[in-house]
Amino acid sequence: MTVKRHDGRKADEIRPMTAKVGVVPNADGSAMFSFGKTVAIAAVYGPRHLHPQFMQNPSTGILRVNYDLLSFSVAERKKPGPSRRSKEISKVTEWALAPAVNLEEFPNTVVDVEIYILQADASTRVAGINAAAMALAHAGIPMKTLVSAVAAGKLDKELIVDVDKEEEDFREGEGATDFPAAKLSGRDEFSLLQLDGKIQPELVPKALEMISSACEKVYEVQKKALKDFIENPEGGNGK
Ligand code: CDP
Repeated sequence: MTVKRHDGRKADEIRPMTAKVGVVPNADGSAMFSFGKTVAIAAVYGPRHLHPQFMQNPSTGILRVNYDLLSFSVAERKKPGPSRRSKEISKVTEWALAPAVNLEEFPNTVVDVEIYILQADASTRVAGINAAAMALAHAGIPMKTLVSAVAAGKLDKELIVDVDKEEEDFREGEGATDFPAAKLSGRDEFSLLQLDGKIQPELVPKALEMISSACEKVYEVQKKALKDFIENPEGGNGK
């Protein structure tokens, strides 16, 4: 049985992706990434001396992520300021990115990663991770590889990739399951797996396979944006 998606996408089809590096001139590194109508920007500042002092780690620098939805990014205006949801997403984003960066050369410092969602049509945490990984690379932070992320899901009984809002809200049959994941690009290692909803254990290997090949496609888009920036720095807004 093939799944019918409201916008006609195939089960393993990602919405059109766009990516650009160097979009926030005053940041040390920055990037935007979009999945269809979900648009994320990320700006990186640092490494810089970390205050308060008790948070410093003398053997390495640390990452500190702040994720937020802008008030008008969602259908019903979101009250500005942190929420339980934004704190959770900031933390899981930090954990998804941390294995890719190498901050041992920068003891007692912090690298701040600010992620803002300009427009939300679901899958915002994964769009934010993709933008942030590119922004870290743009800032020249030493990295083992990029991080590429996508949300798989289940519509009733069918697995899909890149869940949009209408799919996330799908309520017929078994309903919808959201399965956001991040992968160290080009490697056999996941750095984030979350599950909101239900999935039968026998479907998990197939879902992970779909996530892996979708992450490869995301990686290609991220690499191209970084390469375009290197070849034509003025094409973005500069660093
Ligand atoms: O965005 P993501 O899928 O990573 O996280 P979520 O918490 O599952 O949110 C799913 C979607 O719900 C978001 O992408 C938004 O489109 C929407 N949302 C909203 O409309 N208003 C909020 N205050 C929070 C989320």
